[in-house]
Amino acid sequence: MKKLIVGNWKMNQTLPLAKAFFADLKTVELEHEAWIAPQAFHVTACLQMAPEGIWIGAQNVSNEEHGAFTGENSPFSLRELGGKFVIIGHSERRQLFNETNAQLALKVRKSLSLGLAVIYCVGETLAEREQNKTFEVIKTQLNDGLKDLGDYNPDNLIVAYEPVWAIGTGKVATPAQAQEVHSAIREQLGSKTTLLYGGSVKPDNASELLKQKDIDGALVGGASLKPSDFIALCQAPV
Ligand code: 13P
Repeated sequence: MKKLIVGNWKMNQTLPLAKAFFADLKTVELEHEAWIAPQAFHVTACLQMAPEGIWIGAQNVSNEEHGAFTGENSPFSLRELGGKFVIIGHSERRQLFNETNAQLALKVRKSLSLGLAVIYCVGETLAEREQNKTFEVIKTQLNDGLKDLGDYNPDNLIVAYEPVWAIGTGKVATPAQAQEVHSAIREQLGSKTTLLYGGSVKPDNASELLKQKDIDGALVGGASLKPSDFIALCQAPV
């Protein structure tokens, strides 16, 4: 079964590295669907360099389309360029830039209304997991961040479960831990929503995660930067 592998490049990659990355991707036929979210200044270049079928998106957007919002990036402009999706509510946005569920709900609503696919991220910290608050935290992030969404195409709503303690730490959730949370998210949102797991996904642990019943794909940081790793993820047997 085809899975969805999304590379979140964060504030990494140079243009020459991105060019080499896409040139390598062009040499293989990928088993799974692949999307890449480069930093905002690279979206246009990546749209030109990416092989056909690979969607390019952004890592964050404003909840406004136009206006006096110096320094913000418009989801309307992302769509206008040909960008197809946006990651909203990544834990780095929540923790480093103090984005709240209420603000994220506005971004999700605006992006969906413009026809962008949204990857809405949720996940608990280590302290929350140790206090047995995982399910409560995620339920609130879903309830409050996906509130009053208006009319949208349900295929465009994707949720990524990224336990904060697993991001960039090399400490991946076990397939059973990830499946347990995914199944709870599925129960809350219904069966239509695509669910990605993120947090230290690497070529050597991807298959076991992707084989879980409620894991439809992966949101990948570090291992999405190197073409050989990303290609291996996109070919992972499931
Ligand atoms: P790593 O794959 O580097 O742990 O990052 C995960 C992530 O934050 C993807 O959004």
